Amino acid sequence: MAVTGLLLVAFLYAHMIGNLKIFLGAESFDHYAHWLRTIGVPLLPETWYLWIQRFALTVAVVGHIVAATILARRARKARPVRYVRRTKVQGSYAARTMRWGGVIILLFVIYHILDLTTGTLNPNADAQHPYANVVADFAPGRWYVTLFYALAIVSVGFHLRHGLFSAVRTLGQRTLRGERIARAVALVLSVVLVAGYLSVPFAVLTGLVD
Ligand code: HEM
Repeated sequence: MAVTGLLLVAFLYAHMIGNLKIFLGAESFDHYAHWLRTIGVPLLPETWYLWIQRFALTVAVVGHIVAATILARRARKARPVRYVRRTKVQGSYAARTMRWGGVIILLFVIYHILDLTTGTLNPNADAQHPYANVVADFAPGRWYVTLFYALAIVSVGFHLRHGLFSAVRTLGQRTLRGERIARAVALVLSVVLVAGYLSVPFAVLTGLVD
């Protein structure tokens, strides 16, 4: 869980920073999207790096889900007799929403790829002009798309907060002071990520980016 999760976090941060190029204008953003297809050239043919990354991300997502299923099963087996009474508050909100949060994120990624990568669900769907696709996506009339993105991004934030904290524990952190630091770092990294992602649809919605 920890190793696949950390790989996904690295992608999430790189993608969020790349998205902020939208504030530099259409030319800069479209150039960046084109550059993504030329990473590794001339060592690799065009788009090969992108496909290697897509393959690695798919393996990480599948590995992450398989590990979650194995861990959930192991936890159930460790206690074959169910608790008679489960007290409601068990851990933080982030910890209690990992499973459903994960499902929302997965559904979002499928929608998102059909929206901004293949263009199938995008009102503009111009592969040469991703800036225009993003602006068309979050137009005020399509507030429900912005709402769905916002919900998914906040889910990513909660998932990341608990996930990062758990990953550090899995990889060997044990002291009380270390735990406090891990909690604070996980919170800050999640809030920064959420703010970075949310800034794009809200900039379009408010007309800052058009
Ligand atoms: C408002 C926030 C976001 C914006 C504006 C955005 C924008 C984009 C754009 C423009 C692309 C197409 C890139 C291209 O093919 O040139 C893309 C691809 C993608 N995005 Fe996002 N994204 C956002 C949030 C997210 C989040 C939260 C996730 C993950 C949970 C995510 C995961 C992906 C993935 C997996 C791809 C496919 C990359 C590929 O083609 O291999 N994105 N995004």
